[in-house]
Amino acid sequence: MTTMKAIVIGSGGREHAIAWTLASSPDISEVVCAPGNGGTATEPKCRNVSVSVSETSEVVRVCSAELSGLSDGSFVVVGPEDPLAAGLADRLAQAGIRTVGPLSRGAQLEASKDVAKRFMDKYGVACAKSATFTEHADAIAEIRKHSGPIVVKADGLAAGKGVVVAPDADAAVDAVRDFMVESTLGAAGRKVVVEEYLEGEEISILAAVSVTEELAAAGKAAIVPFVTARDHKRRLDGAQGPNTGGMGAIAPATGVSEETLARFRSDILEPTLRGLIAEKFDYRGFIFFGVMVTKDGPKLLEYNVRLGDPETQAVLPLMDFDFSKMCAAIIDGDVSSFDFAWKEGVCCAPVAVSRGYPGPYEKGHAIAFDHKKIEGAGAKVFIAGATVDQRRSPRGIGEPQWPEGTLITTGGRVLAASAVGKDLDEARSRAYSALEAVSFDGMSFRRDIGLPGAAVSKGF
Ligand code: AMP
Ligand code: GLY
Repeated sequence: MTTMKAIVIGSGGREHAIAWTLASSPDISEVVCAPGNGGTATEPKCRNVSVSVSETSEVVRVCSAELSGLSDGSFVVVGPEDPLAAGLADRLAQAGIRTVGPLSRGAQLEASKDVAKRFMDKYGVACAKSATFTEHADAIAEIRKHSGPIVVKADGLAAGKGVVVAPDADAAVDAVRDFMVESTLGAAGRKVVVEEYLEGEEISILAAVSVTEELAAAGKAAIVPFVTARDHKRRLDGAQGPNTGGMGAIAPATGVSEETLARFRSDILEPTLRGLIAEKFDYRGFIFFGVMVTKDGPKLLEYNVRLGDPETQAVLPLMDFDFSKMCAAIIDGDVSSFDFAWKEGVCCAPVAVSRGYPGPYEKGHAIAFDHKKIEGAGAKVFIAGATVDQRRSPRGIGEPQWPEGTLITTGGRVLAASAVGKDLDEARSRAYSALEAVSFDGMSFRRDIGLPGAAVSKGF
């Protein structure tokens, strides 16, 4: 019997999807979710362990304890960016633990917009023109040279609140004042990047990365992109309302031509790979390219050093290979020869959110599931913001998926219903039937995930 364990760091919908996918591998005997959530709590082969993800030493201690005595290929997958930027992968490597996730030097590509833009410029990655400022007066002077929409980005990690796509110079100046004078984001906003506004439709390209000096010398350093995906950032149907962490995703993204993909490879992926090699990064994990498809071709908006949320919930169900074997290939440097095969069809994953989201939102509501209906729809519900309340009995209709108690909402984004269909219509119809079989007080969701125009930002 195999005794290979996988440990998944994080507590969102992305981590539930990763844990569920790993648990389906015959190679994996147990998935430890640190800390996981109400969804991973009773997933077969999964077990939650309590840990604070921001406490690097504690995470390393928990991982070491979980993996001690196991002499096989057990490994850790780090879900979110903050622990990577804080050096979790470095500390795990020092402890001899096999880890999917870049060392902190590579993680700066997401943690600092300035570092990312310098890297893009240095290696000729197609992107928006930009300049970085440490003095607010200089940033404002630059903004005043332009008319029309312009983008202001806080340099540091700001949980999705650090980018303002301003319709005009006045709004951009307000953003600079908020970040640099009022310090609304603390240290993250001390430096800002002022960037050209790009028009187009966005796609998310997640990729497996294996780059080290040794792999580069052997000609085996590689970035292998997954099927494309599209997030839907605005809160309301028709791409209206405030920006959110993501209201749903589809994969593959619609309307992406072969030519766009070829340009993505030549103008974004290949220069990025050359840069990772030239900078001598030890980067074994995931890169998520946030790309705007403009009339002049695809341009990189940002690097994320992890998988996307909710893109992961739409991409992983299309994998026709063993995720745990891919993780081993990332760690061992075999990504360039790994057989990435994808299922035919489309996956749609709309997200249900709490009343109030993305502002202050309600918590503590019990979630009811009609499991038979969800199963009948051929969908999988990935939990993002909910926990098991052991004091309450299950509220599911039919077989309870959460036998230990009721699932209680704890987050703004609560869950995603993810379904694969032969085409977008079928995937949408399955995913939405599953969402209709879930209910909690104040629940709402967008009804247009995947439809034409649903992800195009309007409003200027
Ligand atoms: P980022 O964190 O850099 O991806 O920015 C968050 C979101 O802001 C992106 O997903 C885009 O929707 C938008 N955005 C960022 N940069 C630009 C840009 N240069 N032009 C237009 N929209 C942008
Ligand atoms: N879906 C956007 C992100 O994960 O950052």
